[in-house]
Amino acid sequence: MLSSLGNICVIIGAQWGDEGKGKLVDILSEEFDIIARSAGGANAGHTIYVEGRKFVFHLIPSGLLHKGKVGIIGNGCVVHLPTLFQEIEDLKSYGVSPDGRLFLSDRAHLIFEYHIKIDCIQEERKGKQSVGTTKRGIGPAYTDKASRIGIRAGDLVSGFEAFSEKFRTNITRHGEMYGFLEENPQEFEEYIAKQLEEYRGYSEKLKNMIIDTTEYIRDTRRKGKIILVEGAQGTHLDIDFGTYPFVTSSNTTVAGACSGTGIAPSKVESVIGILKAYTTRVGSGPFPSEDTGEDGEKLRKIGGEYGATTGRPRRCGWLDIAVANYSALVNGVDYWNVTKLDVLSDFPTLKIITGYKYKGKNLKSFPASIDVLSKVEPEILEMSGWQEDISKCRKFEDLPKNAQKYIKKIEELTNTPVKYIGVGMNRDAMIMG
Ligand code: GDP
Ligand code: IMO
Ligand code: MG
Repeated sequence: MLSSLGNICVIIGAQWGDEGKGKLVDILSEEFDIIARSAGGANAGHTIYVEGRKFVFHLIPSGLLHKGKVGIIGNGCVVHLPTLFQEIEDLKSYGVSPDGRLFLSDRAHLIFEYHIKIDCIQEERKGKQSVGTTKRGIGPAYTDKASRIGIRAGDLVSGFEAFSEKFRTNITRHGEMYGFLEENPQEFEEYIAKQLEEYRGYSEKLKNMIIDTTEYIRDTRRKGKIILVEGAQGTHLDIDFGTYPFVTSSNTTVAGACSGTGIAPSKVESVIGILKAYTTRVGSGPFPSEDTGEDGEKLRKIGGEYGATTGRPRRCGWLDIAVANYSALVNGVDYWNVTKLDVLSDFPTLKIITGYKYKGKNLKSFPASIDVLSKVEPEILEMSGWQEDISKCRKFEDLPKNAQKYIKKIEELTNTPVKYIGVGMNRDAMIMG
């Protein structure tokens, strides 16, 4: 197949997640053959609306509603198998089967119940300093990976005895450290036996699904197949470039898309940054453009800003160009998809944060310190809004003049073209550039 986006395109969230990545992935999947997830796990919630029906993807790539497309869960992901199988069932009940076209990297790390337990314990112990994680076991699973004790999908199919041994060692080690070993040794043994039985079942089911996905990508590329990489989370949740420590535990940027799939960086031909027309954040951490007043409340209400994974209300605020520009820098964004522009209809005045001042001086770079970031004074540009319903607009020229000006201002301030503009929830509600 041929796409104007080249043979390998990466889609990346430019803010703190939930920018609307899933919707563009679903739309563009029509022109790609393979859709790959590269990082994160079921902390992601990517929502698609097709003809009024809603589907939320967590682990499965968001392109699989299109029949015949292949999905890959790459080596950079962390996977809770019961959640994966539940999602497969949900997809089937939606009328779409991923059987035979969904592959899981043998190098992807597994999340077990004990990771989820540890995530909850760590959050509780942090008290006021808690990250506000999704409690899906993400951080603890990546910690095991970095500590070189993790258990990978490939372990499940390469030899069940060795897998069982690793499982037993890890659960005992973590149980001792976090104090959740069953007091009754017999009950603990029974729990381990039950878990292993469950995973033996998965190992059977996954025999043909767990493969070296990097070699699969190479082989299919040789046959002319083209690939869309679906980022999860957002750049400012990246473990290196995000608002550390209020971040996730993976690289959510383009670099992570490469290391999390085995695609060589030089082969990526286009990068699309997903930029919500305003800003949201779930969980703790600094958020300079947050509006805790009426406007923030209105954005949450009109934008339906409640987490797709946890249902938590999202914190809302205005578009922040400092955030966008840092994402453009780190990811080498070629084009923006500005999403949810329709949500801004009906605001008499719109605000854009163009930069920050700190102690009275303009900040030249995006601060690494959350202490600094939480004390910056945002510089605000006000623009006139529009009152028309834009959800039926399908061409840039159809948009009200003030909406056009808003988009042009984003292009000017970020020096990056806007190629796609989201004007509603449904698959067809997108101005395609
Ligand atoms: P993701 O995690 O980046 O895929 O985004 P989420 O699915 O968590 O959150 C984005 C929400 O906005 C979802 O409910 C989408 O259906 C919705 N959405 C995406 N694009 C648009 C848009 O252009 N307009 C409106 N009104 N909703 C949108
Ligand atoms: P998608 O792919 C929004 C946030 C959590 C928390 C922090 C760490 O749907 O955009 P974790 O469970 O990863 O250890 O939580 O990161 N977070 C997200 N916020 N969208 C997401 O995914 C997120 N995934 C994680 O709220 O603040
Ligand atoms: Mg989401």
